[in-house]
Amino acid sequence: MKFTAVANSNIAVIKYWGKRDEKLNLPQNSSISFTMDGQLSTTTTVEFDKKLTRDELVLDDKATGEKELVRVSQFLDLIRNRAQIQSKAKVISKNSFPKGAGLASSASGFAALAAAASRAAGLQLSEKELSILARQGSGSASRSVFGGAVEWQKGNEKNGSDSFAIQLSSEKNWKHLRNIIAIVSSEEKKISSRAGMAETVKTSKLYKKRLEEVGRRIETIRNAIRNNDFESMIDAIMQDSDSMHACMADTIPPIIYMNETSHKIAKAVSELNSSEKIAAYTFDAGPNAHVYTTKPQEVKSMLKEIDGIQEIIECKIGEGIRYSEKHLF
Ligand code: DP6
Repeated sequence: MKFTAVANSNIAVIKYWGKRDEKLNLPQNSSISFTMDGQLSTTTTVEFDKKLTRDELVLDDKATGEKELVRVSQFLDLIRNRAQIQSKAKVISKNSFPKGAGLASSASGFAALAAAASRAAGLQLSEKELSILARQGSGSASRSVFGGAVEWQKGNEKNGSDSFAIQLSSEKNWKHLRNIIAIVSSEEKKISSRAGMAETVKTSKLYKKRLEEVGRRIETIRNAIRNNDFESMIDAIMQDSDSMHACMADTIPPIIYMNETSHKIAKAVSELNSSEKIAAYTFDAGPNAHVYTTKPQEVKSMLKEIDGIQEIIECKIGEGIRYSEKHLF
């Protein structure tokens, strides 16, 4: 049977950067994100087929390289083991991201793959089980199972059985919140998050300090989410992004993802907040800015004054995984 699932990307306000187990993708700290709307989504169709001699993967109409295929095949092995099947799979996947925006995300990718492939293998997983499964493809994918505000609880068990995401608040409670994304560069990053975070854990002294402080920020943001109060999480969001990028810069050799335009945006957001707090910037492992705000017009006018921004995308807070009858093959 063929199954198709759609998952949206998510942008963290408390970042996941560093693992305690690289094979199982178990994080050093819990993280919190908002799930984006369908503008940043992946649709994936999977079918297991006895006739295939190896897994097949087509991403955005192109056959993928060996490295990506191996990563997907190993992920499918987890599902095959659980479902007690041997068949190889055909996987066709499409991102809705604006082409060349540098937003390609493993979060929506592995969440959609986990959902479509587990159903195609005959498994009926709970959302918790799906989050644990998606996590093993890519850590941030554990959060894309759910819509709205989501926390990936780091867990303590060695086997990862308690490291999964939960929904903190439905997307329905965040109708006024936007992520204004400023595309600054569409180049593929030179150091993957996976490789970068492993180096930070190994070599950064500042990283220990981050782990000591992050709990306090998590508390602040959890409370803000519980009270549906965006303003009271603004400072913590920016501090957490700054802390992650400081640890990246403290890595030996340093890892630098933000560029001059990214820094200009961060400064402009801080200035915008000087009279009234209305926006929070956050940057992932790349130079593109994500500016969370409930005043999108003001943020967009501010961004229009900054040189070096190629495109501005306004994203709403979106839903979790859903299944579709519109198969890609
Ligand atoms: C900076 O989830 O891509 O976006 O688990 O190795 O696949 P792997 O890493 P990934 O890392 C995302 C890092 C981040 C922060 C975040 O999304 O929390």
